[in-house]
Amino acid sequence: MTQIQWGLDCYTGLPEVDRQHQQLFALINRLSDVKLRDPEMLEQTFAELRDYVRDHFALEEQLMAEANVDATHYVQHRAAHAGFVARLNQLWQNYSDRSEAAADQLLEFLTNWLRHHILHTDQSMALEIHTRMGSEAPHNMFSHF
Ligand SMILES: [Fe+2]
Ligand SMILES: [Fe+2]
Repeated sequence: MTQIQWGLDCYTGLPEVDRQHQQLFALINRLSDVKLRDPEMLEQTFAELRDYVRDHFALEEQLMAEANVDATHYVQHRAAHAGFVARLNQLWQNYSDRSEAAADQLLEFLTNWLRHHILHTDQSMALEIHTRMGSEAPHNMFSHF
C-alpha cells in the first residue's frame, strides 16, 4: 500500500497541530509496514495510534475553545472527531478475523479520512483560530514567496 505523505497543503501554521499531524502520518505508515508480517506489532502500533489520535483531537478541541471559535464549528468539528473514533473502533473489531481485507479497509479509512479531515476541517479551524488570535495564517505566510 502506498504511504501517506505530509505535504504543504496540510500545513496549518499551528506548530503543535502540524507536528502531531506528521506524527499521525508516520504512525499510519508504520501500521501499513507491519500489516501482515507481525499481527502483534500491528496491534501495538494500532493501540499507539489510537492513543495518539485521542490526544491530538483533545489538543485541537482545546485550541478551538481557547480561541473561542464559532460554537457551530466547534460542535461540528468535535462530532467529526467522535465519528472517526467510532468508525475506527468498528473497523478494528472487523479486523478480529485478522484478514488482509479487514486490515486494508482499516488502513484505507485511516488514510482517506485523515487527509480529507486535515485538508478541510482542520484547515478551516486553523484559519478561524489565526483570524481570532490575530496570528498569521499560512496563505499569508506563503504569499511572501
Ligand atoms: Fe487534526
Ligand atoms: Fe480535527
